[in-house]
Amino acid sequence: MRIERSLTALDRPCAFVPTMGALHAGHQSLIKIAREYCDEVVVSVFVNPLQFEDKDDLAKYPKTPEIDERLAREAGATVLWRPEVSGLYPGNEKKLSAGELGKRFEGASRAGHFDGVLTVVNRLFDLVKPKFAVFGEKDFQQLFLIKQMAAELHPEIGIISAPTIRETSGLALSSRNIRLSKAGALTAQSISKALSAASRKDSLAEMKLELARLEKEPEFNLDYAEIIDEDSFEVADENTAKPRAIVAGWVDGVRLIDNVAISPSLVKL
Ligand code: PAF
Repeated sequence: MRIERSLTALDRPCAFVPTMGALHAGHQSLIKIAREYCDEVVVSVFVNPLQFEDKDDLAKYPKTPEIDERLAREAGATVLWRPEVSGLYPGNEKKLSAGELGKRFEGASRAGHFDGVLTVVNRLFDLVKPKFAVFGEKDFQQLFLIKQMAAELHPEIGIISAPTIRETSGLALSSRNIRLSKAGALTAQSISKALSAASRKDSLAEMKLELARLEKEPEFNLDYAEIIDEDSFEVADENTAKPRAIVAGWVDGVRLIDNVAISPSLVKL
C-alpha cells in the first residue's frame, strides 16, 4: 500500500473509499467491497472542515493515523491518500449546494453540513477519477445526496452503497463511538433496538410508536425519528414502496445516527 500526500496519477481503474479517518471495521468493509470492483483501491483520509458547522466537533474528531494505516492495508487498500487542506481547497474550488433536502433531518441540526460533504466529494472525485466509489448506508441521507450529485456531475462513476456494520449489541459502528462513556455506549444501543422493533411492526403508525419511545429514553436526547421513502427521502406514506426508518440524537453530547430498511411486505396500512 502506497501512502501519499498528493495523489500520483493512477494507470489503472480504481475504486475509491473516501473517509475522514478514525477507521474501524465499518470502513474496512467498504474497502473490501471496493476490492471486489477493482484491484486498485484508493482510500482517502481527510477531515473536511467544510462539513463541520461546529468547530468544537471538528477539533474533537478522532485522529488515529497508525490504526488507519494498518486497517486500510489489512482490508486491501492499495493507496492511502492523505490530502492537505491547501491541496483540496486551493481557493477556486466549486462550492456545491445540497438544496432543500440538505436542510432537513441531518441538515436541520447541521447547517451547511451537506453542502460541505458534496463540495469535498465532488472535489475528491475530480482528483481521483474513480470508476466506482463506495459509501456506507449508515449515513443514508449523505448516500442519497451523493448519488444525486454524482448522477448529475459524475455520471461515469458507479456509486456503490454498503450495508451498515454493527457491534453484537446492534450499535452501528461509528468513529464517534470512541467518545462514548461505558454508560453512554449502553444508552446508544437503544437506537438500534428501537429501529429493529419498528422494522418488525406491520403498520406505519406502530412503527412510529416504537421510534417515539426514544423520546423517553433517559440520557438520550432525540433529534428526529422518522420513516422516509428511500427513493425520494420524503416522509413515507401508504404508497411508499421502500420505507426506511431513520434516527438521530445525542448521547454524552455525541451525535449518533442510524437507520434501517423496512421490508415493504411488512407495511400493511
Ligand atoms: O462519511 C464521511 O466520512 C464523510 O462525510 C465523507 C464522505 C468522507 C466526506 O468527507
